[in-house]
Amino acid sequence: MSSRSPFTSRYSRRQIAKTAAAAAVGGVVLGGVSFPHAFAQATPAAGEAELEIFSWWTTAGEAAGLEELFKAFTASNPGVKIVNAAVAGGAGSNAQAALQTRLSANQPPDSWQSHPGAELKARYVDPGYTVAIDDLYTEQDWDSVFPEGVINLITIDGQKQLVPVGVHRGNVMFYNKDLLSKNGIEVSDDWTMDDYFKAADTLKAAGVPALALGSKDTFAVVQLFENTLLAALGPDDFTKVWTGEVGWDDDRVTTAIENLAKYFDSVNSDHAALTWDGAADEVYAGKAAFTSMGDWLYGDATAKGKQDSIGWVNHPGTGGSFVAVIDGFTMPKGAPHPVNAKNWLITCGSKEAQTAFAPHKGAIPARSDADASGFNDYMKWSAAAFGKDAVVPSLAHGSAASPQFQSSVNDAIVSFIVDLDVETFQQALVDAQADAQ
Ligand code: GAL
Repeated sequence: MSSRSPFTSRYSRRQIAKTAAAAAVGGVVLGGVSFPHAFAQATPAAGEAELEIFSWWTTAGEAAGLEELFKAFTASNPGVKIVNAAVAGGAGSNAQAALQTRLSANQPPDSWQSHPGAELKARYVDPGYTVAIDDLYTEQDWDSVFPEGVINLITIDGQKQLVPVGVHRGNVMFYNKDLLSKNGIEVSDDWTMDDYFKAADTLKAAGVPALALGSKDTFAVVQLFENTLLAALGPDDFTKVWTGEVGWDDDRVTTAIENLAKYFDSVNSDHAALTWDGAADEVYAGKAAFTSMGDWLYGDATAKGKQDSIGWVNHPGTGGSFVAVIDGFTMPKGAPHPVNAKNWLITCGSKEAQTAFAPHKGAIPARSDADASGFNDYMKWSAAAFGKDAVVPSLAHGSAASPQFQSSVNDAIVSFIVDLDVETFQQALVDAQADAQ
């Protein structure tokens, strides 16, 4: 990237390199993080006994991360009962449908999880389901602590609409360390798609599926496609497919789809029956070598005590790019418990809660002033990349394109998994773009 990234974080190399945890000074200690001062609380939550939080964080690492946010909220809001309204399903397709039903019936929870960008705008802001939170940003002095690129994505029509809690990297290839070393395979951040397919041939010859896929989660295949597309286009033109400046009929899109088909030469035979975390289990167990997934997988591995079995590298051909999957929470219009909802957002935006949440979730804090001294090796790698790479949005996780376009791609992917027909899939992309305009 020629210009300095608006996502450049302030995690300095030195800070990232430091391993000693910061000394906790007094106060409550929860999950290894101290809460010396209650987060500036909105107003006493008199009469508001509950807080209902809606998300899709139900898998091992996701639930552990959410629990850290709940603990941080409770530290400042004791006595409030938290209702966890999570709806299972990777990347939130089930949850988003259930939420739409509630929102259209005027029955919002007190806050829900969303991705900034296209999803936030089209699903929630444009229909009028949220309340802008510019005043809260001013009150909490958040404008100076979130990277400018993140602020831009949460600002819709000039108003701030989301509190980012963590930043995931979507273009990560996790692998079973033993399997790679047994088969003499080495990877590095500048490896290419050709390098991957060479490794896949070696693994296939050794009787090991190269790629673990959980295609029961459609998003996992969409994400595999977007990572492959990024490798074919590079970050500048990858960004331009979402604006129509690069057409879906481009030859490099064809290359990406051909490569997408090629993964299926050496994939786990039960992929249609597995979700993303089931595919991750195959890698932890050494039944498959690689899986291309966002780094919530690192949270999953940690929660299952399997983190030492895996290594990580960027998806082949995408070194220097960071597919950002940013999680945040909204302020609903008509929140049943508005004071608690505000306090929840204050918790989510706090340094303490983000620091506690991130290692469980596999993310890095969204705040660029978070204490990086306690980051694990994975987080140090991701934070360094976030600070210097070209940061690009994700289709599979809502930021890059409209929900309508995303849903057309999901449908086309479901057919592609069955027929691996390159031309039909590419035509579906061209049509989806035309329909979305
Ligand atoms: C993403 C979300 C992540 C993770 C993932 C898998 O959309 O941003 O936090 O939960 O789905 O469910």
